[in-house]
Amino acid sequence: MNHSDLVALLEGGVNARGGRWADLGAGEGAFTLALADLVGPDAHITAIDKDASALRGISSQFETRVADFTKPLDLHDLDGVVMANSLHFVRDKQPVLEAVRAMLKPGGRLIIVEYGADRGNPWVPYPFTYPQWEKIAARAGFESTKLLHTIPSRWLGSMYAAIAWVPSPLQGRGSG
Ligand SMILES: C[S@@+](CC[C@H](N)C(=O)[O-])C[C@H]1O[C@@H](n2cnc3c(N)ncnc32)[C@H](O)[C@@H]1O
Repeated sequence: MNHSDLVALLEGGVNARGGRWADLGAGEGAFTLALADLVGPDAHITAIDKDASALRGISSQFETRVADFTKPLDLHDLDGVVMANSLHFVRDKQPVLEAVRAMLKPGGRLIIVEYGADRGNPWVPYPFTYPQWEKIAARAGFESTKLLHTIPSRWLGSMYAAIAWVPSPLQGRGSG
């Protein structure tokens, strides 16, 4: 996948510039860079990965933090979180997703990128298709889950991006 494929996966979920974002399981930052294209230079993006050597490859324009996202991260009031090909490493997704919901503002969004498969392999142990994601996200307290984009993938057939929102008493969905 090239950079424009990555931007295309995320772009339906980002229609406002700026804000505070985190990329959980950022690796070497391919999706961090795609997100940065969409949110612009005034946004603050924290790239988190448990693998310090992967994070060393990330552009210095981003704050980086070596941390395990299954543990408390001390992130609050974020406008958005991206988890690209990282949630499939977690078997029990509910506690992680509840923690992600708590680090987002009311009306904040989680964008996931995942393979369109429900059966894993040693490299992608616990994937989930979009229909499964709708149920997983709802159980963790997200709402208005939506499939954003799907592209073919030579691994496990396809890759999709989806968005889910933290409920907000003030804001209707789809407004940004
Ligand atoms: C397949 S790579 C994806 C990297 C990047 N998001 C991308 O799509 O190009 C998965 C990344 O998630 C990280 N990761 C997996 N479980 C994690 C955890 N519990 N906490 C932090 N990072 C984790 C791995 O270290 C790895 O860098």
